[in-house]
Amino acid sequence: MHSKMVYPVSSFGGELSVPGDKSISQRVAMLAALAKGTSVVKGFLTGEDAMSTLHAVCALGASYRFANDTLEITGTGGAFKAPANPLDMGNSGTGTRLLAGLLAGQKLAVTMTGDQSLSGRPMGRIKDPLEQMGASIELTGEKGTLPMMISGSPLRGIRYELPMASAQVKSCVLLAGLFAEGKTTVVEPRPTRDHTEKLFQMVEIPLHVEGLEISVQGFGPKGPAIHACSLTVPGDFSSAAFWIAAAAARPGAKLTVRGVGLNPRRTALLDVLRRMGAQIETELPEEHGDPMGTIRVRGAALRSAEVGGDEIPNLIDELPVLSAIAALAEGTTVIRDAAELRVKESDRIALMASHLRAFGVEVEEHSDGLAVKGPATLHAPETPLDSGGDHRIAMSLAVLALFSDGPVELENVECVQTSYPEFWSHLEQLGGKRK
Ligand code: S3P
Repeated sequence: MHSKMVYPVSSFGGELSVPGDKSISQRVAMLAALAKGTSVVKGFLTGEDAMSTLHAVCALGASYRFANDTLEITGTGGAFKAPANPLDMGNSGTGTRLLAGLLAGQKLAVTMTGDQSLSGRPMGRIKDPLEQMGASIELTGEKGTLPMMISGSPLRGIRYELPMASAQVKSCVLLAGLFAEGKTTVVEPRPTRDHTEKLFQMVEIPLHVEGLEISVQGFGPKGPAIHACSLTVPGDFSSAAFWIAAAAARPGAKLTVRGVGLNPRRTALLDVLRRMGAQIETELPEEHGDPMGTIRVRGAALRSAEVGGDEIPNLIDELPVLSAIAALAEGTTVIRDAAELRVKESDRIALMASHLRAFGVEVEEHSDGLAVKGPATLHAPETPLDSGGDHRIAMSLAVLALFSDGPVELENVECVQTSYPEFWSHLEQLGGKRK
């Protein structure tokens, strides 16, 4: 198990670009695999999650090569072939759930497996709507979990009201809807990230959006005929968020992140940090497809905030790092309506509560969130802190360590590779110290 020692620093900041967006990279791999011809993708994330999804679509008949930093994916034109082995989806919930939608209507039998964390995550949430569409899905794990067996079947369009705000479930149903007869409509309880919708528009798959209802017209078992395309994946806002939070909570710190995704369905952390007192500016030079631009942060002595409701899906992956820096803000920061955090790569509510307490922070744990009391003096814990194999917990703990009163040992940090392989070198680039 890899461990890292992270040291407190007295200044932090600078300028950088972060690797490609994990959500968008995986969706691009799937749509490029469906397309006819070779798609040219700049900025594709080479972290493990995106590579698991890329390898999975290659096992289904697509192929890829990297030419310097550019990825070329040659698609199947819709003629997927049966994979020789079960698809190993690694740690990727997005890859698993979206690919299940893409495959549900294919004449193929496919098995998907994953690592320990992914094998504990709920898959009933996609089985239910896919079965309503006529799919045959078997979850052979102990409680509605992986391994998943999909035996492709003819699908019919449905109207599906999502029981939870989940872009993964929404996208799964829309992808399956492309191979169905008739119209498929998904109704969201709250707006979630819309990368799938934006990519459908880019490859000219007709889509109808009316408020919280998103509809596609099915193309039947053959699916849509789409052409290969060229695009640039923006830097991942969720990766930039660790540095944005670390700079925002340090009075006088300055940070610039360039080429980063600025889709408003992803950037609610910026609104919260502004309410907490940080100065943040964004610059959006051009907008086609998913917006991408520059973020400038000026740190401050922060005050607490209340976070809940519609904001939650738009900062769901940033809540661990937000709860971390909440410990530095004056007053009690309350995060609610975020029960989904309990079924991410780990139970992020329980893990952040126990790790913050290890630093001496007063935290209340609720079923759907946390209350974090600040400002606290962060005392370096004497025993190592375990990430639980969750990349965003590992990176949030590294941010906490930068503000601590001594070096902090973090254990089980190899998971950072899933979304942000350059994390440790970027930490040093911005003035952090680690061993
Ligand atoms: C993702 C959606 C979110 C997010 C996850 C990636 C996606 O999950 O937490 O990291 O790529 O659609 P849910 O849709 O399950 O909330």
